[in-house]
Amino acid sequence: MGFSKTSCQLVLAAAGLSNAKWIVPGARWRDTKGDLVNAHAGGVTIEKDTGKFFWFGEYKIEGQVEGGGVSVYSSDDLGTWEPRGLALKPVPGHPYIDTHHIIQRPKVVYSEGTGKYHMWWHADNSTYGWLLQGFAQADNITGPYSFVDATAPLGNLSQDFGLFTDYKDGRSYALYSNGDRREGRDVYLTSYNENVTALEKIVHRFDKYDLEAPTIVQTDQSYWALMSHKTGYRPNNVVAFRADNLAGPWSQPFIISLLNTRTYNSQSGFSLRINGTKRTTYLYLGDQWDSISLWESRYIWLPLSIDERKKFLSLDWHDIYDLNVKTGEVTPIKGTTYYSRNATTSGDAYHQEAAFGSQQVITTGIYGNDSKVTFHNIPGSGKPQWVSFYYQNTDDMGFGDQPGGTPDRFGGTWQLRRIASVVVNNRTEELSTLYQRDTHKGIVLSTPLLLDLEKGMNTISIGGLFNNQTYKGADIDRIVVHPPEE
Ligand SMILES: *[C@@H]1O[C@H](CO)[C@@H](O)[C@H](O)[C@H]1NC(C)=O
Ligand SMILES: *[C@@H]1O[C@H](CO)[C@@H](O)[C@H](O)[C@H]1NC(C)=O
Ligand SMILES: *[C@@H]1O[C@H](CO)[C@@H](O)[C@H](O)[C@H]1NC(C)=O
Ligand SMILES: *[C@@H]1O[C@H](CO)[C@@H](O)[C@H](O)[C@H]1NC(C)=O
Ligand SMILES: *[C@@H]1O[C@H](CO)[C@@H](O)[C@H](O)[C@H]1NC(C)=O
Ligand SMILES: *[C@@H]1O[C@H](CO)[C@@H](O)[C@H](O)[C@H]1NC(C)=O
Ligand SMILES: *[C@@H]1O[C@H](CO)[C@@H](O)[C@H](O)[C@H]1NC(C)=O
Ligand SMILES: *[C@@H]1O[C@H](CO)[C@@H](O)[C@H](O)[C@H]1NC(C)=O
Ligand SMILES: *[C@@H]1O[C@H](CO)[C@@H](O)[C@H](O)[C@H]1NC(C)=O
Repeated sequence: MGFSKTSCQLVLAAAGLSNAKWIVPGARWRDTKGDLVNAHAGGVTIEKDTGKFFWFGEYKIEGQVEGGGVSVYSSDDLGTWEPRGLALKPVPGHPYIDTHHIIQRPKVVYSEGTGKYHMWWHADNSTYGWLLQGFAQADNITGPYSFVDATAPLGNLSQDFGLFTDYKDGRSYALYSNGDRREGRDVYLTSYNENVTALEKIVHRFDKYDLEAPTIVQTDQSYWALMSHKTGYRPNNVVAFRADNLAGPWSQPFIISLLNTRTYNSQSGFSLRINGTKRTTYLYLGDQWDSISLWESRYIWLPLSIDERKKFLSLDWHDIYDLNVKTGEVTPIKGTTYYSRNATTSGDAYHQEAAFGSQQVITTGIYGNDSKVTFHNIPGSGKPQWVSFYYQNTDDMGFGDQPGGTPDRFGGTWQLRRIASVVVNNRTEELSTLYQRDTHKGIVLSTPLLLDLEKGMNTISIGGLFNNQTYKGADIDRIVVHPPEE
C-alpha cells in the first residue's frame, strides 16, 4: 500500500512558517495558563462567524474516570489553547449527569433552526448499563450548556458516540456502535432532524465489524469513515471505509497507518476539515489513552493524505508540524538526527544488532540510573527545544515480569510498560519522564519532550525510571533534536 514516508502528498509551504504554535503529537499539551489540555475524546467545532476553533472534550482530573463534565478550549491556530472552563458541568444528584455518570465523547454543533449550540454525547451510568445519547443546549458556544434529555437512538443502544456534519448541505449525523454484545457490534450512521434535536433515520449500518470511535472525513468526492477496533485502552490499527454517498455502498475497510504501529498508538474519534485559501487539509484528531492515568492521556493529531484515484487515505507521522489554518498548509519541522549507535553506553546498556534499527543497531539494556545511553555533543540554542526519542518497547508480546500476566497488563492492571528518565548535562535534579508505550517487535515510534538545552554542546542521557517496580527503559534507536520554536 502507498504509505508515504515523507508524506509527499502534502504541499509544503515553501516560504516561511505561520505564526501558529507548532503541533507536537504525543507531547504534553499545555494551555495558555500552563495546565495540561484536559479535553479527551472530544471534537473541535468551528464557530461560524469568527472561524475560531472550540475544542470540547472529557474533563478528567487525576484519579478520575467518570463524571468530570465537558471542558472547552478556544484557539485561532489549533496550537494555542485558551481554557474556557467547563461547558457542561456535572450536577450532583442529576439522573443523567451526576458526578458518577459517564459523559463520554462529547461533540458540539450549531443548529441554525434553534439558533443554539447543541452538545451530544454518550450518556451512561458507571457500569455502562444505559447506553444512551445525551443532549444539552447553550446560547453561546462555550456554554454553559443545559441538559435537555438522554435518549436511546431510535430505541436502540449507543456507545462510542461520534458526530459528523456534511459541509455540502449542513446536515448532521450521529455515529455510534450498538454495544459489545453478540447481537450488537454494528456501527450506525443516523441522520438528525434539521434542528439537530433528535435522530431521524438510519442512513447506513456498518454490520458486525465490531468497531468503535467513528468519525467521517469528507472530501469533495468521497466520505471516509474511520473507526477503531475494540481493544480497550490498547490502541490498534484504525481502519477506513470509503463511499461516494453516505448511504453507501461503502468499501471494504482498510488500515490507514503503517502496520503494527497501532495508528501511532492512538484511537480515532474525530477529524477536522480545514478549508484553507491554498489547500484543504484534513486532520485526524486521535486520542492516546493512558490507562494508568487517564487524565494524562495525550493527543495524536496528524494530517491525512488522501488519494481519490487509489481510493486510499493514510495517516503519516510527523514529530512536529506547523499548520497554517488560513492557507491550509502543513509544514513538517525538520530536526537533526543523532543515532544511538554513536551514543555511549554505561552499565548493562549496550548496542545490539537490529535489522529494523537505524544503521542496523539499537541500544538495549537500559535500566535504572546506571545502565544508560548518553548522546554527546548535541548543539543547543539556550531556548527550550523539542527532542523526539525514537524507541522500541516490545513488552506487548511477552508476559512482562509477572507470571501469568497477559499482554498490556502487570498484575492484572492495564498500564504503560516503561517510563525512562532523561537528563540533560547531568542535571539529575531536572530529570524529565519519558513515556514509552508498547510498540511492537521491530516497530520504532517516538515520544517528544521539551528540553532546556544549553547554548553550545549538551549531553542527553536516558536511563530507566519505572516499569512496575523495575526500572527498565525501552530500547533507544535515535533522537531527533528540533530547532527552537522562536
Ligand atoms: C426548529 O426550531 C425552531 C426553534 O425552536 C422552531 O421554531 C422550528 O419549528 C424547528 N424546526 C423544525 C423543523 O422542527
Ligand atoms: C446501570 O444501569 C443498569 C441498567 O439499568 C443497571 O442494571 C445497573 O445496576 C446500573 N449500574 C449502577 C452502578 O447503578
Ligand atoms: C454569551 O456571550 C456574550 C458575548 O460574549 C455575553 O455577553 C453573554 O453574557 C453570554 N451569554 C451567556 C448566557 O453566557
Ligand atoms: C436495533 O439493533 C438491532 C440489533 O443490531 C437491529 O436488528 C435493529 O434493526 C435496530 N433497530 C433500530 C431501530 O436501530
Ligand atoms: C472554502 O473557502 C473558500 C474561500 O477560501 C470559499 O470560497 C469556499 O466557499 C469554502 N468552501 C467550503 C465548502 O466551505
Ligand atoms: C558513528 O559511529 C560510526 C561507527 O560506529 C562511525 O563510523 C561514524 O563516524 C560515527 N559518526 C559520528 C557522527 O560520530
Ligand atoms: C535513581 O536515583 C534516584 C535519585 O538520584 C533515586 O531516588 C532512585 O532510587 C534511583 N533508582 C534506582 C533504580 O537506583
Ligand atoms: C506490580 O505488579 C504487582 C504484581 O502483579 C502488583 O501487585 C503491584 O501492584 C504492581 N505495582 C505497581 C506499582 O503497579
Ligand atoms: C557527567 O557525569 C559523568 C560522571 O557521572 C562525567 O564523566 C561527565 O563528565 C559529566 N558530564 C558533564 C557534561 O558534566
